Amino acid sequence: MAFADPASIAEGWYWAAPSRDVRRGRVYALDMLGRKLALYRGAGGVARCVDAYCPHMGAHLALGRVEGDSLRCFFHGWRFDGEGGCAEIPALGGAARADVRIARHTLAERDGLIWIWVGDRAPAGEPPVHEALKDFERRSLLVSRWRKGCHPNVVLINAIDEQHFKTVHNVPGNALILSTQSLTPTHFRVENTAAPPRSSWLWRIVSRVYGKDKLCYEIDYFSGATGCVRFGPRWARLHLLFATRMTEDGGAQGVTLALTPKSKGVFGPLIDALWLRVAALGGAYFAVGDTKVFNSIRFDLQTPIPADRTVRAYVRHVEGQPLAGAWRDDRAPLKAVAE
Ligand code: FES
Ligand SMILES: [Fe+2]
Repeated sequence: MAFADPASIAEGWYWAAPSRDVRRGRVYALDMLGRKLALYRGAGGVARCVDAYCPHMGAHLALGRVEGDSLRCFFHGWRFDGEGGCAEIPALGGAARADVRIARHTLAERDGLIWIWVGDRAPAGEPPVHEALKDFERRSLLVSRWRKGCHPNVVLINAIDEQHFKTVHNVPGNALILSTQSLTPTHFRVENTAAPPRSSWLWRIVSRVYGKDKLCYEIDYFSGATGCVRFGPRWARLHLLFATRMTEDGGAQGVTLALTPKSKGVFGPLIDALWLRVAALGGAYFAVGDTKVFNSIRFDLQTPIPADRTVRAYVRHVEGQPLAGAWRDDRAPLKAVAE
């Protein structure tokens, strides 16, 4: 795929909605990367995602209602069970039609988000999370929801563009020396290799906190759409997750989560709530100052210099992403970014 190309959809897990927004017994319309979907939560509490258009006459199923774990179309009342099969047609005396189905999409709920698998092949692994958190039970905090005026591929540059930490965020030039690695075709890892500098009283404190450690700043990117950031000293690793997806006008909409491994004991929830808020504060610091760039940038790295090496490595990586070629619904074409 071409980098930041609104016409191509990279295969992967994409966030669909915060779990708490999808209430039991309710159905919602969802536009997801050029495909119209209906998202609902059945009486049993399980969320399901199906193609939006009823296989009878094409009514949007989000106009219908949830009955138990089934979805009933508003127009002529056909009922589709939790597996997507047509379980009841009122005009046929309530008969089922085994040959009529709605397409169901693979969905997972993790870290307070509903994720949907977008791909022509079977889902690859679990929804994105930083490698260091993979094997832990976790708590999460929804920090913010946002929109940007550029493609999600471009939004993610914000966390790995070494130069701008100095020019925008006032981080000393020698604090971040980032290394990059394509771990799989969809997983890109960026890691800081530098120790904290001792250039000011603040950085001398940071340096003391870190001891002999490097300044921890690691990013796991998945499918050019989701970024998992880990930072902080050894005894307080903090995690943020930036989940993005492309909007119909070629921009990005996303959510920021703070994550932490679940602490044990009666004070566990309290301790975790504290770390989640500390992580959220860290995220807020780095979010300041960039918004105007990501609402107006027309990304085109025409004049690369050596300091752009992380961005160039990331662009190359994204260009090797496997595509979800059959995902887009022709009835809901994506528009290119408005001129
Ligand atoms: S369009 Fe859905 S039942 Fe007729
Ligand atoms: Fe930034």
